[in-house]
Amino acid sequence: MTFETLNLETLDVEARANGVQVITINRPARRNAMNSQMMCDLGACFAECYKDPDNARCLVLTGAGDKAFCAGADLKERHDMDEQVWGRQHALLEQAMRAMSQVPVPMIAMVNGAAIGGGLELALACDFIYAAPHVRFAMSEVTLGIIPGAMGTQNLPRAVGLRRAKQLILTGAPFTADEALRWGLVNEVVPVDQLRDDVLRVADHIASNAPIAVRQAKKALDHSADLDRAAGYAFELEAYNRTIATEDRHEGINAFNEKRRPVFKGR
Ligand code: COA
Repeated sequence: MTFETLNLETLDVEARANGVQVITINRPARRNAMNSQMMCDLGACFAECYKDPDNARCLVLTGAGDKAFCAGADLKERHDMDEQVWGRQHALLEQAMRAMSQVPVPMIAMVNGAAIGGGLELALACDFIYAAPHVRFAMSEVTLGIIPGAMGTQNLPRAVGLRRAKQLILTGAPFTADEALRWGLVNEVVPVDQLRDDVLRVADHIASNAPIAVRQAKKALDHSADLDRAAGYAFELEAYNRTIATEDRHEGINAFNEKRRPVFKGR
C-alpha cells in the first residue's frame, strides 16, 4: 500500500518488515476524536487497502497515546454545525465505513484507551479487538441526540447479540474492558504494557499465513452472518476454489511433506 502518497494528516502508518501495517489515529490532544479531515483520511486509507491489498498481510488500527483509542466524532468541530454541513460531514464517515467494510486484509483493533461512540464503531468494524484493562467503552450516541451512524447498530448485535446491543445502545451507558470481554465484544484484555507486543504477535502470525487464503477466509467469514447456511457454504466454496490454483497452495503441501516451514508469496 502506498500510503505516503495519500498525505494523511490525522493518521500515521508504520509499515513493518513482514507486511504488518500499524495505522495510528493521531489526534491525542482531542482524544483522537474524528474530525472531517480524519473521516477523509480513513476513507482514503481504507480505499488504498482495497486497491492494493498485496502490500499488506495484516493491519492494526490503534490510537495515539494511552488515553483514547478514539473518542468518536469531534464534538467541538460539530458545535454549531448546521443540518446541511452535518449531513455532508456524515457522508464522509459513511464513505469511510463502507471502504473499511471492504478492506480485504485482516484488521485488528488495538484498543489502548477510551473507545466511545464512533470510536467503538471503528473498533467493531475491525475483524477483532484486543483491549487494555483500563479501557472504557460506550455507544453513547443517544445521550447526544443522535444514533450510531458508523455501522454500530449492525456490527454491535453481530458481536454481542441483539439484546445486549439494545441495552448498550439504548442506554448509551459506559462499560469496562472486562464486561466487553465477557460479552464477546473484545477477544482479549491484555495489560497495557503488553498490548502492543501481543497484538503484533497475532498480526505476525496472520502475516505468516498464505495471504490469498487469509483474504478468502475473511471474505467467507464476513458473509456468515448475512447468508443462510446453504448460500454461505456456496460462497465458502467459491472462496476455497480461488486458493486451489495458487502457488501458495503447492507451497503449503510441499512444506508439510518436506518437514519445513512454508514460505508464502501471495501468489
Ligand atoms: N470531540 C472533541 N474533543 C474531545 C472529544 C470529542 N469527542 N473527546 C474529548 N475531547 C477533548 C476534551 O474536550 C478535552 O479538550 P480540552 O482540554 O480543550 O477541554 C480533551 O479532549 C481531553 O478530554 P478529557 O475529557 O479531559 O480526557 P479524558 O482522558 O479525561 O477522557 C474521554 C477521555 C474520551 C473518556 C472523554 O473525553 C469523553 O468522554 N469524551 C466524549 C466522547 C463522546 O461523547 N463521544 C461521542 C461520540 S458520538
